[in-house]
Amino acid sequence: MTPLISLLRLAYSAERAAAFAYQGHAASVRDAGEKRDLRRIEYEEWAHREHLGRMLSALGERPSPFLEFKFACIGKAISLSCHLIGWFLPMYFAGRLESGNAEEYVVLERLAAEQGMSEELECIREMARVEKTHEDFFLEKVRGHWALPLFEKLFAWGTARSFNQMEREPFHGPVREKKGV
Ligand SMILES: [Fe+2]
Ligand SMILES: [Fe+2]
Repeated sequence: MTPLISLLRLAYSAERAAAFAYQGHAASVRDAGEKRDLRRIEYEEWAHREHLGRMLSALGERPSPFLEFKFACIGKAISLSCHLIGWFLPMYFAGRLESGNAEEYVVLERLAAEQGMSEELECIREMARVEKTHEDFFLEKVRGHWALPLFEKLFAWGTARSFNQMEREPFHGPVREKKGV
């Protein structure tokens, strides 16, 4: 299997894990604005999954049943844990994860370009940009929190560290219709 197919399959399944996780995250916060923003992020993850599914089938490939199962379990477990671990931890680790997701799409764009998938490059670039807005959203949430300096040291993500080199943009993802499960 090529690195491109592996990454498409991984990202396809991981997007559903993220969407499941944000369902629990949105349900666990009290603030109405935060709930709304987390739902918006969830819808954007569903939209990403749809794009990745399209790319996979255009290449004559299918999602991996193993990854689908594994990431569904991970997503549901995170979703549940959001109700148990307070406000800071889900916000921090969501931001850390999104930081890596943005980089994953930067890599995907390069692999897709090498395969001559020129018609999908703009879509992949846009997904990277949206993941960056997610990272920024969570970074703004935890900025100034007393625990952030410690977590930044321990887990290598925060105000001074990111897993990608992308420019920061304000969070303004449009609300999209929920698709798929
Ligand atoms: Fe995503
Ligand atoms: Fe995201």
